[in-house]
Amino acid sequence: MKKILFYCFGLIGTLMLLAQTCQTTKPPQPAPTVTVIGPPIPLAVPANFPQPRLDTSLKITAAGVALGRVLFYDGDLSSNRQIACATCHQQANAFTHHGHRLSHGVDDRLSRRNAPPIQNLVWAKNFFWDGGVHHLDFTPLTALRDTAEMNSDIEAIRFKLEHSRIDYNGMFDKAYGTREITSQRLLRALTQFMSQLVSASSRYDRYSRGEDTTLLTKQEKEGLQLFRSKCSQCHQGELFTDYSFRNNGLAATRKREELEFGMTEEQKVRLLATRDEGRYRVTLNKKDRYKFRVPSLRNVQYTGPYMHDGRFTVLAQVLRHYATGIEDSPTLDPRLRKGKKLGIPMTDDEQKKIIAFLKTLSDPEFMKDPRYADPRLTRYSKL
Ligand code: HEC
Ligand code: HEC
Repeated sequence: MKKILFYCFGLIGTLMLLAQTCQTTKPPQPAPTVTVIGPPIPLAVPANFPQPRLDTSLKITAAGVALGRVLFYDGDLSSNRQIACATCHQQANAFTHHGHRLSHGVDDRLSRRNAPPIQNLVWAKNFFWDGGVHHLDFTPLTALRDTAEMNSDIEAIRFKLEHSRIDYNGMFDKAYGTREITSQRLLRALTQFMSQLVSASSRYDRYSRGEDTTLLTKQEKEGLQLFRSKCSQCHQGELFTDYSFRNNGLAATRKREELEFGMTEEQKVRLLATRDEGRYRVTLNKKDRYKFRVPSLRNVQYTGPYMHDGRFTVLAQVLRHYATGIEDSPTLDPRLRKGKKLGIPMTDDEQKKIIAFLKTLSDPEFMKDPRYADPRLTRYSKL
């Protein structure tokens, strides 16, 4: 019976994922029902942030967060027991895969895209570079199943968790009231942990909340003004994104030198031959070709390489792209076209000031916060 229930949940999850992938303009989906026990922990909303978007009926508990954290760092979620969520989402780099243009999974196979940061997700309107996922609960499914990522399936994971050194059944019991491990409970635990990953202690934040207005230098303040006039139409508000999908003029074909070091010839040929069509993959509407979700720029100093395919290594390349590298195409965002001129006019000095400002969005406290670290490093024995 347990097994049948488990398959049913898996099937419902898959159907919901498919349904939401096809329907694009829907409001955030209600959360799948999972009974969570214990007192809820309130989400602390930073004073300069808007109200969160994550379904408020989602109950977050200390036991749920603790379970999600252990799962996030557990390689047993992958087929070879070596790739954890944290392999591609590393805390020291705002939970991105540092140094990898495209993230690597099981057997060092290359995934399709650059791993985005995991931060402030309860404010997100949609997930993934193409917005193909609408609910935080479903974000891990692609990674868990993809042969180039964790290459696993929920049934295999459940078997491993039940036979793990870690007392997972006990932890599921504390979080959900019974010892049963189901896919929905597992996904909800990851959601509970990820909901806690809030980055709002950068120098910019303290300046923006008026806590200390001397925190930004003259150059950084000038950079902020320039950013507001040149970039914030898309990288909007305190989250530095409006979650819309836009084509920011990246060149259609990547240069050979932009390919990942250590790729096999076959991988290179495949990558050069195929172009990621972004939002079009979700909507199948020609107007969405090559559009990608505007990324947040929080912690951007640490989240490189940049763009959905990680083609730029440093911020100077990104600024140069906007100033002189925009490639025209039918879906290019109108904000990047002024008459016949393409791009955002910026002198070298202005580009430097904007980069200085972008670095004020770094939040070292977030990247060192022991509550988000691998639990084995801190209090493994107590779990
Ligand atoms: C092999 C590397 C890899 C692993 C392992 C991995 N991810 Fe990811 N993750 C990615 C990539 C790449 C994307 C972007 C996918 C896309 O846009 O198509 C992503 C996207 C996400 C997002 C969406 C973030 C956003 O802002 O839209 C979340 C949340 C996430 N992953 C959570 C997880 C969790 C939880 C796990 C563990 C179960 C996990 N990931 C394992 C590479 C990985
Ligand atoms: C027309 C909307 C738009 C404007 C204006 C814009 N951006 Fe972007 N930006 C995007 C989109 C869309 C992406 C993601 C593109 C992709 O990966 O295919 C992006 C990506 C980035 C990235 C990469 C982030 C990452 O995590 O990979 C940086 C950095 C960035 N933009 C900085 C800026 C700066 C600085 C300006 C102003 C000079 C600016 N952007 C203006 C839409 C815009």
